[in-house]
Amino acid sequence: MEVVILLNSKDIGVLAADAIETLVRQKPSAVLGLATGSSPLPIYNELARRYEEEGLSFAQAHGFALDEYVGLPTGHQQSYREVIRREFTNRVDIRPENVHGPDGAAEDILAACRNYEEAIRAAGGVDLQILGVGTDGHIGFNEPGSSLASRTRIKTLIEQTRRDNARFFDRLEDVPHHVVTQGLGTIMDARHVILVAAGKGKAHAVRDFVEGPVAAVCAASVLQLHPHATIVIDEDAASELRLADYYRQTYANKPRWQGI
Ligand code: GLP
Repeated sequence: MEVVILLNSKDIGVLAADAIETLVRQKPSAVLGLATGSSPLPIYNELARRYEEEGLSFAQAHGFALDEYVGLPTGHQQSYREVIRREFTNRVDIRPENVHGPDGAAEDILAACRNYEEAIRAAGGVDLQILGVGTDGHIGFNEPGSSLASRTRIKTLIEQTRRDNARFFDRLEDVPHHVVTQGLGTIMDARHVILVAAGKGKAHAVRDFVEGPVAAVCAASVLQLHPHATIVIDEDAASELRLADYYRQTYANKPRWQGI
């Protein structure tokens, strides 16, 4: 696990966008794992800018969303399918039919989850997965207690997550209780994982998953077992890390050709 500590969200967005650009230039048909939440927005803004101003193309790329609310009507402004469209895929030239998300409105949720796993496999697997982290250490919507080997399935949100996400809805009561999410096993199959986090509110979660034990109670800690996981955070999110100086020093002395 590589921990990169940067000054602010803009720098985080630029570094993650660099890795995505390198991938897409080497492999135009790359499969990107897309996350929602506010943390990845600087990445999407930077990629949209590079598309507009520098001709970075996603015309052959594929995208798979991490998760989705259950029970929101199709086209709901806060459904993650719409959020991903609005924040990223509508702003670049990725083909709409190449962008997928778990189906939270399916009659048969279990079959929809199996189909989603199959679609990821059929596309060749995720090359680069973008992740944020919840205040309780969740990735995707893998709440505390999620099996470290889990696949795409339905989950129940804990109240803290519903409260955290209430800012996107009119009222707390409007936040669904159920979600469909890629499992931790699904996320671990991605070839490269970049988790981004910023702000003091994430400091506990970052400390727990980077330096605490690997445990289902902190889902993101499973990334300690990933062969290529890059954690890109700002100074506030890093403020509780015991080895912060070591991470800074390591990155400062890293040969730039290595990238992340
Ligand atoms: C939601 C999403 C996660 C995201 C988390 C943090 O729960 N399912 O994928 O990482 O929110 O969101 P934010 O980046 O806004 O703090």
